[in-house]
Amino acid sequence: MKQEKILVTSALPYANGLIHLGHLSGAYLPADIFVRYHRLKGSDIIYICGSDEHGVPITITADKEGITPQQVIDRFHNSNKATFEKFGMSFDIYSRTSLPIHHATAQEFFLSYYEQGLLSEKKTLQFFDAKANMFLPDRYVEGTCPKCGYEEARSDECEKCGSLYDPSELLNPKSKISNSTPQLKETSHWYFPLGKFQERLEKYIDEKNKSFKWKENVLQYCRGWFNDKLADRAVTRDLDWGVKVPIENVKGKVLYVWFEAVLGYISATKELSIAKNEPSLWKKYWQDEKTRYIAFIGKDNVVFHTIIFPAMLMAWNDGNSDKFLLPENVPANEFLNFEGKKFSKSRGWGIDVDEFLELFPADSLRYALASNLPETKDTDFYWREFQLKNNSELADILGNFVNRTFTFASKHFNSRVPKLDELNDRDKEMLERIKNAPKLIGDLIEKYKIKDAVFEMMNFARAGNKYFNDSEPWVTVKNTKQKCGTTINICLQTIYTLAEVFHPVIPFSSEIMFKMLNAKKTNWMKSGIPQLDENHELDKSEILFTKIEDSLIESQVNKLGRVENEDAPDLLPEINYEDFAKLDLRTAKIIGVEKIKKSDKLVKLQVDLGFEKRQIVAGISKHYEAEELIGKNIVVVANLKSAKLFGHESQGMVLAAETKDGNLFLLEPNGKSGLGSKVK
Ligand code: 2FM
Ligand code: ZN
Repeated sequence: MKQEKILVTSALPYANGLIHLGHLSGAYLPADIFVRYHRLKGSDIIYICGSDEHGVPITITADKEGITPQQVIDRFHNSNKATFEKFGMSFDIYSRTSLPIHHATAQEFFLSYYEQGLLSEKKTLQFFDAKANMFLPDRYVEGTCPKCGYEEARSDECEKCGSLYDPSELLNPKSKISNSTPQLKETSHWYFPLGKFQERLEKYIDEKNKSFKWKENVLQYCRGWFNDKLADRAVTRDLDWGVKVPIENVKGKVLYVWFEAVLGYISATKELSIAKNEPSLWKKYWQDEKTRYIAFIGKDNVVFHTIIFPAMLMAWNDGNSDKFLLPENVPANEFLNFEGKKFSKSRGWGIDVDEFLELFPADSLRYALASNLPETKDTDFYWREFQLKNNSELADILGNFVNRTFTFASKHFNSRVPKLDELNDRDKEMLERIKNAPKLIGDLIEKYKIKDAVFEMMNFARAGNKYFNDSEPWVTVKNTKQKCGTTINICLQTIYTLAEVFHPVIPFSSEIMFKMLNAKKTNWMKSGIPQLDENHELDKSEILFTKIEDSLIESQVNKLGRVENEDAPDLLPEINYEDFAKLDLRTAKIIGVEKIKKSDKLVKLQVDLGFEKRQIVAGISKHYEAEELIGKNIVVVANLKSAKLFGHESQGMVLAAETKDGNLFLLEPNGKSGLGSKVK
């Protein structure tokens, strides 16, 4: 069979937050399954992804945390990359758009459009936040609708009454960033003539759909956009963070994040070429007509991948001799929700992927998500369903079948593949299934019907279990051992093919199955015929899946909706009890107070600990009058090394609580505990 050349990309997630299960279900797991399948099939395929590291929200996170945008993207790029790896994503490269190679690539595209005279410069009025010193993107401005008076209207559109208006008409505009009143200020931007491409885009989608059958949900979105007529789009922004507009004397302007992020697929492939020491490798995938390009995304990204990116590539191709391929298909998924609601970090709804993978194996999650992909409509992740998928399918069907077959092979056939003897109808039927399973499943994956493919995988394991039961090897082993041998042979061949067809979904477990069989993977289409020779020696058996206890699931369900306070302070690093026990805290009473000259903070206290009296210098004079301190019950750190403050000896420390606005309050025990009692 001819070897196919395929380029696969998954949407580049923003390096401004952690990826969640919804992302995995939308654009990543389906692509990884598709890619792993094609690798087994022997296709020449590369899989490209990376972080999208520009855009306003990243700069806002940086300001909020008092760090640089670079620090923000470093944090999320590295952690998302590591999470993807744990989850078993098999990207050939996980790049990032902050790299110079990406900036250069994006600028090259922009300049090509500029030099072709495609871009028009237009002056506009835009809200400027003087306090934050930035132009505000639409979604950061809110005000009162000039038509209906709705108070949370957006800068140019009212969600409530649906009217569109000029931003200058918005009443009481407020910046969502600083809460101040923004002013309209003149600026100029470059516009890409999307409208000019409408006809060609419609034709492109129509043709691809005819040959490759696009998903109905994707076509629907496109029709919507075409009906509204495509308009010119501003492709630059007033911002410092991003890919600089490569025009002389233009300062403080960058390319609109979407206008360069999609090009990130190309620059990431260039980076891969450099890493592989094959500088022109990327052309082989992007510019060879024989290559198939598939772009996996979630539904919120459809317009960018079916309209804007193809138009950008067409525009490049019009003005250059090296021509880029357009996506053959954009199999976008809908959304995955979590227990009936949208994922929300601030509402505590969902679970970090990393945390998930600390608790459960990646394959269990991959299987549960893959069998419930939002391919045609939104779906939900439910904890109980996850448990059921793991316990009743992975463990009870697949795991059990593998386990009982291996137990039999080791106990009665010395861990060697028994001879395939005379076949009855049941045997023949099972061998037929083994033969057909890879094609049946492969065809579904090729049509992006991955959920159905996963269903067929488990069905095949189910058939294996039924075949084992119906063949009753525990009976035949006693009187017709050859018959028993035939059964076990066929079960082992089934396991071989199961390891193969399940590989794209549960790669870690598939690896273990191959190891147990002491066999190597083979070409997908070749599996399905008996692969294990008679007398082939098996490796030792391992437990593939363990059951998940109810209590573990319950504790996760109970955690839902418990909001983590966004303002929660960063606590100091954890200590153990021994560290705490080193502090000797005692109750005491203030019996004398004296101001310290030259200091407006410090005051000299005489305190009674019951067993002795001490002098302590404390920084509380701004917060208490001397007189109100006398007689107060307090808590003292009694084993703090004494020190001199402003020339005064201090033998300990007084405990006080500091509020967010900087006020101090002494900790005052109610007196019942007496003096010198240990605080623990
Ligand atoms: O929705 C997102 O997370 C975007 N960062 C996806 C970008 S895909 C492509 F343009 F890079
Ligand atoms: Zn309105």
